[in-house]
Amino acid sequence: MAILIINGPNLNLLGTREQSIYGSQGFEAYLTKLQEWYPQAGLQYFQSNSESEIINKIHEVGFEIGGIILNAGAFTHTSIAIRDAIAAVTSPVVEVHISNVHAREAFRHKSYLSAVCKGVILGFGLDSYRLAVEYFIKS
Ligand code: DQA
Repeated sequence: MAILIINGPNLNLLGTREQSIYGSQGFEAYLTKLQEWYPQAGLQYFQSNSESEIINKIHEVGFEIGGIILNAGAFTHTSIAIRDAIAAVTSPVVEVHISNVHAREAFRHKSYLSAVCKGVILGFGLDSYRLAVEYFIKS
């Protein structure tokens, strides 16, 4: 099995960025743990601050990979283009968020992506990613 985690804009700054919301752990360290916990998941990782690079990556892997775990960051709330990319491919996509976006500013309550994703996991900190991995390895 292979699963690709895609992190969008500003998520390269996890661990230093707004720690009261996103915590103090960097994503690479967490990814190493995930790979140790779930060796069978074949976890791969891609991060980009660019909408076009995220779309290109979804196109590149989205007809063959077992699943995509996508935290599109702020593009979640703005990007019809990423939504269309998810709808265009055949691999299932699970939308994740570290924070509970519904408990935050109103502009974060709208996701353009959720309707074309398999499901959404949010609000559990970095554990949101682990819960998404659990979904894929059990399905
Ligand atoms: C986020 C929530 C978004 O609203 C925000 O723009 C992010 C991170 C989350 O993981 O909680 O960059 O996707």
